[in-house]
Amino acid sequence: MTLDEMRVKLQSKLKKERFEHSVRVLEMALEMASWYGMATDKLSVAALLHDCGRVVPTAESVEKAKELGIEIDMIEEHQPILLHQKLGVYYAEKDYGVTDKEILDAIGRHSTGGTNMSDLAKVVYLADMIESGRNFEGVDELRKAAEKSLDNGMKQCYAHTVQYLLKNNLLIHPDCIDGYNELIINKEL
Ligand SMILES: [Fe+2]
Ligand SMILES: [Fe+2]
Repeated sequence: MTLDEMRVKLQSKLKKERFEHSVRVLEMALEMASWYGMATDKLSVAALLHDCGRVVPTAESVEKAKELGIEIDMIEEHQPILLHQKLGVYYAEKDYGVTDKEILDAIGRHSTGGTNMSDLAKVVYLADMIESGRNFEGVDELRKAAEKSLDNGMKQCYAHTVQYLLKNNLLIHPDCIDGYNELIINKEL
């Protein structure tokens, strides 16, 4: 399936706002690829399809994931919005014919982040946070951090996310903490 065919299919599956966000994430990912001299073929697919799991309404996602045999952890069970990343891996394969492991991994961790993420996965994670339609407090700092380096952007995004989750009494997924800790341990930022 070509990227254009994927775009047409995605538009037919997602709500208008979610589709438009997906296109902005693709645009942001392409801009970031130009900053960092990265190849865009696989990145474009991962960025465009990152939210394809949103085809399942959040209220139905635990049931759907169980039906599909997807493993659900304690955090996902209590905060089922997170399941759209695992559901996204399933639908990217099933509906869009994606088989590439790096693309699927990027889709599967675009919300929580995690350790050992490829540059492609980092760009998808960051582009999702800083695409041009995002206007939450602090987003400009995150944009600047992402422009400095991928790891700097990731570190700032993790920190922002943890603060947001704490402030709103939401659960913090361990993959987010692990990703943050990995950066602090391994990198000079
Ligand atoms: Fe998402
Ligand atoms: Fe998204």
